[in-house]
Amino acid sequence: MVQEFSKVDKIEGELNLPGDKSISHRAVMFSAMAEGTSRIYNLSNGEDVKSTQECFKKLGVEIKKEKDFVEATGKGFKGFRKPDSELDAGNSGTTTRLISGILAAQNFESVIIGDESLSKRPMKRIITPLTEMGGKISASDNYTLPLRISPSENLHAIKYELPMASAQVKSAVLLAGLHCDEPTSVIERNPSRDHTERMLGLKVEKTAKRIISYSSKQNYPVPKEYFVPSDISTAAFFIVFALLSKNSLLKLKNVSLNETRTGILQVLKEMGGNIESENEREAAGEPLGDLIVRGSELKNIFIQEKIIPNIIDEIPILSIAGIFADGNFTIRNASELRGKETDRINAICYNLKLIGLEVEEYEDGFSFGGKINNSNPVFESFGDHRIAMAFGILSMLLHSGGKINNFDCVSISNPDFIKQIKNITR
Ligand code: S3P
Repeated sequence: MVQEFSKVDKIEGELNLPGDKSISHRAVMFSAMAEGTSRIYNLSNGEDVKSTQECFKKLGVEIKKEKDFVEATGKGFKGFRKPDSELDAGNSGTTTRLISGILAAQNFESVIIGDESLSKRPMKRIITPLTEMGGKISASDNYTLPLRISPSENLHAIKYELPMASAQVKSAVLLAGLHCDEPTSVIERNPSRDHTERMLGLKVEKTAKRIISYSSKQNYPVPKEYFVPSDISTAAFFIVFALLSKNSLLKLKNVSLNETRTGILQVLKEMGGNIESENEREAAGEPLGDLIVRGSELKNIFIQEKIIPNIIDEIPILSIAGIFADGNFTIRNASELRGKETDRINAICYNLKLIGLEVEEYEDGFSFGGKINNSNPVFESFGDHRIAMAFGILSMLLHSGGKINNFDCVSISNPDFIKQIKNITR
């Protein structure tokens, strides 16, 4: 579907966005593992989290949607049943990589498949540590889906130093570690999102140089009530939209303010963005609050390597802020972007060139500057929800609007994007 957007001058109002995707995946997984019934409030309504729910239903978990919450009755330690067909993770890297850590410890075989995009994404990063733990995982020639996970009842604990900044790899190892008697430890240099650690109450040691997280059988989940804060990665599109629209005033309610996710707020504030938070609190171990965003004049800044894992999903929309900020925009040390739903470095550069910007592409990032000179762009989403939404926002900031090809993919994280835009534009 081609989505057309016209110029919007001002945005105003309040949004209560759907639940955070990363926390939602984990809430479903941990409820599914726990023996008994858990309730999840404000679960993400995106396709990715639906994929996670469908996989666990095939493993014997009962999941019911009620009016205000989702109820999941989990199977307990090694209580899953062998699925009668392949587990389809759809477009979701988080589903694939985290569930692999759980399935590696089961006494039955399972096969994970996914869509065209997911079938190209790198899986060696989880196969290596899970195999080291005694898991039996085979993939296609270049370590991509389908993954075949063979029975392996006795995983052993390992000490694993992450070769790349990845919360998905860290979580896969920690989840496998929940099946071991001895503690498994994962060491990371730069902090990635810590939802797995928080939600399972894992021990975490932090020094100036590294972070070590530990998991063992003792941390195996029990039934709980989860409250999922609104997704800061979804909020980021609206935050940038409000900052770049003169005289705008937008309130975003109950947004996740986990410090391993708020790098985008830090960067945008440093760029001159007027963003305030109020009503800060905690729900089910995760910090959240309301954000108030006002139209602001932005300038581009130097973005440090250390913050990249914290803003990795927000780089598409951050680069849109960069177009309208003073000075040239540069992002480096972000080669992880090439292995996302699409090669996001390539996708962003392709679309920025369509509006006449001078773009330089690097293996680990890109930079751009210059003036916008195309009045009628048709952007490509490359089937990637974050590219589609970022260039949807850009279209609403351009004098004669813009179009996005293959926009439907926004439903991966936020099926109600267009409705939400209508609510804050008049
Ligand atoms: C996620 C981790 C990140 C992020 C993804 C969700 C998670 O991926 O890009 O959207 O929920 O753990 P990596 O850990 O592979 O960087």
